[in-house]
Amino acid sequence: MTPPIRSLLSLLPLLAAAAAPCAPEMCAPGAGSSICPTATRGLKSEPQTDEPYLENVYFRNASPFSVELLHVDHTGEEVSHGFLSPGLRRGLPTLHGDVWRARALRVGQTGDRRLLLEHRIGVVKLKDCECQQPSFVDCKKPPFKGPRDQLINDPVVFENHANAPVDLYWWNGTCEELISWDEVGGVQQHARKPILSTQGHNFRVREAYSGRMLMQHTLNDLVIRSCEEDAEREAELFALQEQAWSLEAERGLLREKLAGELSKLIAQIGVQTASNASGVAYSVSVNGFATESSAISVPSLRVLLLTEK
Ligand SMILES: *[C@@H]1O[C@H](CO)[C@@H](O)[C@H](O)[C@H]1NC(C)=O
Ligand SMILES: *[C@@H]1O[C@H](CO)[C@@H](O)[C@H](O)[C@H]1NC(C)=O
Repeated sequence: MTPPIRSLLSLLPLLAAAAAPCAPEMCAPGAGSSICPTATRGLKSEPQTDEPYLENVYFRNASPFSVELLHVDHTGEEVSHGFLSPGLRRGLPTLHGDVWRARALRVGQTGDRRLLLEHRIGVVKLKDCECQQPSFVDCKKPPFKGPRDQLINDPVVFENHANAPVDLYWWNGTCEELISWDEVGGVQQHARKPILSTQGHNFRVREAYSGRMLMQHTLNDLVIRSCEEDAEREAELFALQEQAWSLEAERGLLREKLAGELSKLIAQIGVQTASNASGVAYSVSVNGFATESSAISVPSLRVLLLTEK
């Protein structure tokens, strides 16, 4: 292998990493997609034992119907953990590696049991999302050394999958505060950084050398939304059904017409036979094997008229 090719090949993982697509919420808080998820075939809980492995998961039902919360067990079976009415929120302790799903509860309606959410609990992978750069405002506070008082602690574990060491900042809406101050030179590649945090907290991940923001992460509820595909799929189904109905109506109409034509033909032949002394043997067959000359073609059905001396 020639050196230029080798050096090009060594660039490939870099290119792949740089081009890695990120969800919109990984650059701006609050952004989110409302595309219907599809259940991942064969997905199951695989609890991890690396500490800290326990965290809290918060479900918030922002859909207009009740949902069922389901834990996907280690065999891939969905086990119900109860129902959540629209607008309500519920917290549950969970393990890293656990898989959760939420399904719509719309008994007797379209979209009953439709998957609205599928989520695996685990580390937050840090990557370079090529975000638009927010300006950096330093909080200028002494280093943050522990969980804030009077708040529920939600452990979160970050894992650096970017191509450079990173610093983690807590953004309070006005300014940023370094929280990975104890990691000299930043959180190294592939290293993990557990943080005790609180729901709603917003983190910014910056490249340690340059300060460029690589992505952001909000410690958020898992929001259960009614998805857009819902309306689209329903419209599609409705259109298909209408088509089926009109086809059925058309078929009925054709059948009637055909019956009419057939009886006319039979009557004509009958008249002809009666008035013709030599007589004509005839047979009419629906859906028959016609020869060009004797076949009368009616849409979707063929009428065959055979005459014989
Ligand atoms: C963020 O922290 C700074 C420094 O402590 C403070 O001045 C500012 O008011 C805080 N912003 C918000 C929105 O709480
Ligand atoms: C009777 O049938 C023959 C053969 O189809 C035909 O040639 C003839 O014209 C018919 N006669 C009458 C009176 O219709």
